Amino acid sequence: MRILVTGGAGYIGAITARHLLDAGHEVVVLDSLERGRREAIDSRATFVHSAVGDTSALDAILPDCDGVMHLAGLIEVAESQREPGAYFDANVAQPVRMLDAMVRHGVCDIVFSSTAATYGEPDEVPIVEDAPTRPINVYGASKLMFEQMLDAYGAAHGIRSVRFRYFNVAGAWPDGSLGEAHDPETHIVPRILQAMASGQREFEVYGDDYPTPDGTCVRDYIHVEDLIAAHIRAMETLDPRDPAKRQRVYNLGIGRGHSVKQIVEAVRRVTGHAIPTETGPRRPGDPPQLYADSARAQRELGWQPRYTDIERIVETAWRWFKTHPEGYIEP
Ligand SMILES: NC(=O)c1ccc[n+]([C@@H]2O[C@H](COP(=O)([O-])OP(=O)(O)OC[C@H]3O[C@@H](n4cnc5c(N)ncnc54)[C@H](O)[C@@H]3O)[C@@H](O)[C@H]2O)c1
Repeated sequence: MRILVTGGAGYIGAITARHLLDAGHEVVVLDSLERGRREAIDSRATFVHSAVGDTSALDAILPDCDGVMHLAGLIEVAESQREPGAYFDANVAQPVRMLDAMVRHGVCDIVFSSTAATYGEPDEVPIVEDAPTRPINVYGASKLMFEQMLDAYGAAHGIRSVRFRYFNVAGAWPDGSLGEAHDPETHIVPRILQAMASGQREFEVYGDDYPTPDGTCVRDYIHVEDLIAAHIRAMETLDPRDPAKRQRVYNLGIGRGHSVKQIVEAVRRVTGHAIPTETGPRRPGDPPQLYADSARAQRELGWQPRYTDIERIVETAWRWFKTHPEGYIEP
């Protein structure tokens, strides 16, 4: 297949593109490079330096494509609260122009990176896909809106979609050659590594008085390789003849949570370095526990996460961090 990977210069998109290429697919990467890194783009891919809402770029790319993996977007919760317009533009308005271009060119299949932030504060864990979606920030709302657009375009134009609601994605390509380098970095594993590498900054734990076993927030960490394996299965199994499979939603997590303190401890064990921490106040809107019920993805896609040990996830992140100075970007 020839697949358009939007956001293919970003953390997850670059690893996705490399996996698709390794599996024998052709890949076109579309990325504005607002956040990603040009050097992360696989040299075997065709790169189009453009925004998702650039209709003339899409009109040139899509006639030759069989499907779209849509990973581009803005991803920072706090930034989304400060700059809602930018988030609704990047995560909703521009991707709608892409859907229109897909309709124009008869490209019907899209796999979309959604998020557990669409659920907001859940009534219970583990979270199932049918749980109420009540996002509590602009980021989650923008992702949910695009899911709703996919329903509408499915009904009106026959667009088939798979939306993956990711929990916390972590880790790197197993040999450490591709990994996470957001700027600023808000994700916990690279933030702990950055604090450790700085040698002077402490890693701030946001609250240790939650109703969890050690008082810190519990989240579901899924390795990026496991995440992408589900995407590739989904893209290869979208079945145009089965209406029940036209709009699918799957949680992607390992189904188990780790606390902030457990992650700090895993990084300490893997790296052999002390991790200085300080406890700050809770962040508004941080639920005590979030973890996924991913039984649907396991059942329907025949998918299983392979990295269920947090230390193995951290090991790959550490391998990437040690060898790539850009992993040390100061937050
Ligand atoms: N990383 C996680 O833990 C996580 C969790 C849940 C969901 N997601 C979703 O997964 C996707 C990828 O996340 P990531 O961590 O790789 O993010 P990232 O920031 O590393 O990559 C996003 C890429 O999209 C590009 N981009 C942003 N807006 C664009 C636009 N309008 N047009 C073209 N390119 C644009 C950026 O330049 C960047 O290369 C995002 O959609 C995110 O919402 C990620």
